[in-house]
Amino acid sequence: MTQLWTLEQIDQAAEQLTKGQTVAFPTETVYGLGADATNEQAVEAIFQAKGRPSDNPLIVHIGSRNVLSDYVRDIPDHAQKLMDAFWPGPLTIILPSNGKLAQNVTAGLDTVGMRMPNHPHALELLKACSLPVAAPSANRSGKPSPTTAEHVYYDLNGRIAGIVDGGKTGVGVESTVLDCSSENPMILRPGGITRSDIESVIGPVDVAPAMIEKNEAPRSPGMKYKHYAPDAPIWIVRGSAENMKRVADEAKREGKTVQFLVSEERAQELGVDDALVLGSRHQPEVLTSHLYDRLRQVDQIEADLILAESFSEKGIGEALMNRLERAASKVVG
Ligand code: TXA
Ligand code: MG
Repeated sequence: MTQLWTLEQIDQAAEQLTKGQTVAFPTETVYGLGADATNEQAVEAIFQAKGRPSDNPLIVHIGSRNVLSDYVRDIPDHAQKLMDAFWPGPLTIILPSNGKLAQNVTAGLDTVGMRMPNHPHALELLKACSLPVAAPSANRSGKPSPTTAEHVYYDLNGRIAGIVDGGKTGVGVESTVLDCSSENPMILRPGGITRSDIESVIGPVDVAPAMIEKNEAPRSPGMKYKHYAPDAPIWIVRGSAENMKRVADEAKREGKTVQFLVSEERAQELGVDDALVLGSRHQPEVLTSHLYDRLRQVDQIEADLILAESFSEKGIGEALMNRLERAASKVVG
């Protein structure tokens, strides 16, 4: 059975980790499914519980910067500066591994993604267990990352030892993944720390293309897996409310039921009161924090087609649109 723990019960969760069990916990981005990153069997249990392909490496979470050098071979100057600026926080830094972690954590790569999360429950847990904790997002593979303990429970009840309940997470999409293992740092996944945040500290960085061609080896193995695609297809509709109305009307004429995934402003412009609303388009952080919950709701409602608004890609909007595009089957308009 999967247990639920509060912050006061964090020692019980930590004990399970030291025993090689899997424990879900909140971070400031999404919930993670953690296990002792030095214990190959414990790490294998993460892959099993999630149904995750074994060639997709895990991020290792640490509770203090001081232990970083126990697991990596080299910390380049630019990585150091970024940690000074953004740790603890939603930035995962890929560095050359020194081979001390369980081999399956890195899926055989010679690099490892490290992150110090900025969430009181996560930091308490990491302190209490004194372990590096490997943790991918705590969803079943192919589902949206969980932003509440309920999402985790829905996906993984009976498959993991327990869940530390910290309520709703903050950012709502996963951390920025930045490859610092070679000369030129490259953003492999946009996230909570934006490109301009990073560039303000170390200057221009490259960004890996969101979608990669088949047969091309991705810098980040996770990029080759399609993210959550709900039962009903999602189309992102660029442009005005009139555009969206036109696409909706056409679908309705074909006998389809249509639902909208939009800002509150767009819902008003459309004159609909049952849309899946993400928040105000003037608050991109709020839109982003609600995305995964609303994507989970898409499968709870009756609809043949979901029409999603296209949001600004400024700041956190880049991460928001990256995740929305990965869930969508096409962009129109
Ligand atoms: O916010 C987050 O990052 C959350 C919380 C729990 O920390 N974790 C998370 O983990 O999103 P996951 O496993 O769902 O995504 C990790 C991504 C994957 O796309 C993986 O391929 C990539 O990071 N990754 C991990 N280690 C890597 C490495 N050594 N080289 C390249 N990509 C790596
Ligand atoms: Mg994930």
